[in-house]
Amino acid sequence: MSSDLEYSPYDYRVHEDPYPVYARLRREAPLYRNEELDFWALSRHADVATAFRDWERFSSVNGVTLDASAWGPHAHRTMSFLALDPPRHTRLRSLVSRGFTPRRVRELHPRILEMTRTLLEPLIEGEPFDFVADFAGVLPMDVISELMGVPEADRPELRRLAEVVVHREEGVQDVPPAGMDAALTLVGYYAELLAAKRRKPGDDLTSALLEAEVDGDRLADGEIIAFLFLMVIAGNETTTKLLANALYWAWKHRLTDRVLKEPVDAWIEETLRYDTSSQQIARTVAEDFTAHGRTVPAGSRLLLLVGSANRDEDVFPGADRYDLDRDTSQLISFGGGRHYCLGANMARLEAQIALTEFTRLVSAYEVDEANAVRVHSSNVRGFASLPVSLIGRSPG
Ligand code: HEM
Repeated sequence: MSSDLEYSPYDYRVHEDPYPVYARLRREAPLYRNEELDFWALSRHADVATAFRDWERFSSVNGVTLDASAWGPHAHRTMSFLALDPPRHTRLRSLVSRGFTPRRVRELHPRILEMTRTLLEPLIEGEPFDFVADFAGVLPMDVISELMGVPEADRPELRRLAEVVVHREEGVQDVPPAGMDAALTLVGYYAELLAAKRRKPGDDLTSALLEAEVDGDRLADGEIIAFLFLMVIAGNETTTKLLANALYWAWKHRLTDRVLKEPVDAWIEETLRYDTSSQQIARTVAEDFTAHGRTVPAGSRLLLLVGSANRDEDVFPGADRYDLDRDTSQLISFGGGRHYCLGANMARLEAQIALTEFTRLVSAYEVDEANAVRVHSSNVRGFASLPVSLIGRSPG
């Protein structure tokens, strides 16, 4: 490995374009060590996929992000079973899965469609607008609120709080005090929601989680609240970024005519592969392990570079090409093994509905790239702001 090869998920140059450094890591240092930040990183598809499946050697008990306040044995208090190993992970995930069923997600379809239309229709033929502020940053959180049974009047405030939780000023590497406050307010809100659903159950996920039972075991209130909070952390910003990334990359590669004419599935999958919103996931190495001639001691922090694995030439020939015709079945954007994203179906359904409506209403669009703003986060990649202008389809 040459001495000039440096990778940090906090580096602004990496946020601008991480793919050149990923390519070098895969080639020159497939098991990379960053002394200063005290982590190791795997970047090849085969290694990342194997590590995802091996929870015994690559543990989640200290959480899955390097950010100081989110790392440690307490991580599960805010990230629920995302930050637990079996058997505690298995117990919580199976209880939650009793309520968070594929059927419940499918049944959201008409409401997601309605919400999409309400947001999108007024934007057609109007002035240029910010696709993130006015659409992609609104829909996912409102869909999560719909799923949980949050009354419509409360949703704008929850959206605001969720935004504060994930917002980072330039140069800040950890959750700022405002983010902590907003997280506490959200948790307080979910505690009240739970109490309200217990008094008067509805046909929503929160009520279903109160009823969920496996062999006589049930979820404690604190466990339900932590899971509701996890959905905001895991399912909100990631889906926002996917929608804006899809618009951006199709435009950047001069494929807008094509994506606006075709079914949107290939557009979604190739965007997930080419530039995934969740760029890397951390693990704790449970026992010494050796790979590529180096040994990582037990207790080390290890990053699985998902964004890099998705660009591995050994699995995706011509991986740096944004290609709507490619086989994307090996994409690893939703992880793998025990922690495979619980919301993958929901994210895909939402993107399907949102982008299909977009293609139905829009005949052409332009991105104002000079004024687009990227987020600076250690693990989420995408736009904080994406100005676009649209031409609507003529009716009929
Ligand atoms: C494009 C959108 C999304 C991406 C890229 C994404 C990515 C991921 C990844 C990589 C993991 C695995 C984490 C690990 O192995 O430690 C994960 C887990 C998870 N995701 Fe997603 N996700 C998305 C959307 C959603 C949505 C919409 C929801 C729910 C509303 C959701 C809920 C979860 C949950 C609960 C877990 C934890 C699963 C476990 O630990 O067993 N995600 N997600």
